[in-house]
Amino acid sequence: MDRRDPTLIRPSEITSPELYLNRREVIGALGAAATIAALGTGPGSAAAAAAPPAPRFTRNARFSVGGPPTSVEDVTSYNNFYEFGLDKSDPKANSGSFRPRPWSVEIAGEAEVLGRFTLEDILKPHALEERVYRFRCVEAWSMVVPWMGFPLGDLLKRFKPTAKAKYVEFTTLLDPKQMPGQRSAILDWPYVEGLRIDEAMNPLALMVVGLYGQWLPNQNGAPLRLMVPWKYGFKSIKSIVRIRFTERQPRSSWNLSAPGEYGFYANVNPAVDHPRWSQAKERRVGGGFFEPRIDTLPFNGYAAEVAQLYRGMDLKRFY
Ligand code: MTE
Repeated sequence: MDRRDPTLIRPSEITSPELYLNRREVIGALGAAATIAALGTGPGSAAAAAAPPAPRFTRNARFSVGGPPTSVEDVTSYNNFYEFGLDKSDPKANSGSFRPRPWSVEIAGEAEVLGRFTLEDILKPHALEERVYRFRCVEAWSMVVPWMGFPLGDLLKRFKPTAKAKYVEFTTLLDPKQMPGQRSAILDWPYVEGLRIDEAMNPLALMVVGLYGQWLPNQNGAPLRLMVPWKYGFKSIKSIVRIRFTERQPRSSWNLSAPGEYGFYANVNPAVDHPRWSQAKERRVGGGFFEPRIDTLPFNGYAAEVAQLYRGMDLKRFY
């Protein structure tokens, strides 16, 4: 592992999970004698798998959306996470035993700082903030979600991408034992996604670790997922284990699976219909069956922040 970036430390140097866990909680749950055994450092230990104390974050009022956010119940029970099944209720129903900790992320490709870093290494220097974003799925439903995280660009800069790093590729965990959906060939697993490097560095692109003030529930992509609010939801890849800087445009799962339906850029665009439905309007989840659909906005309402990234590009062709 390259150690030129002082904010990146070896896994062996970080505080072990048993020190940052709330010991009283662990003891309460397991009983004192069992606790001593459970606090072993092996990856299978209960302590290593338990969630850390509640996150500390500040609200970033610059990112808010008129009207109330979608209820926490809807955000955590109406999900797309094909690794856990196809129905909206499957991710919650089937991800209960998924273990998002311990976790590590591999950094690969065109960067100076490469290697495998624990989740704690990844998170340590970043202050967490809450941002309320509009979130628009390509299936024409939408939500408003208070995400918690930090700018993706701040993380990527720590790895010192080289001049050849024109794109960034993200990969989800491949583990059919924990992710039952990966036992069928719905997609070419693992799920992969990518961004152009300047898109990834845009301050709106968020590395998300929580929602509604809590660590991410498994069904929402624990422990680490992207949120790219001006793009269709499938770009916001969940449960990331690998970040690779590339010179060529990386592959992306939905584009591979149905290239005529899902592009690499996938910017929210009411003027470009999906081949099977209109993208002009959207249904706010939780709004009730008879509530009128609302207009979909170019770049999902974030044109002022991101439209310049695509100047000179034909947005119909580069869908
Ligand atoms: N990431 C992975 N690994 N697998 C998936 O199936 N679905 C995508 C995206 N990220 C998906 C994924 C789609 S289509 C959407 S709309 C969002 O996750 C849904 O995020 P949510 O369930 O937190 O609302």
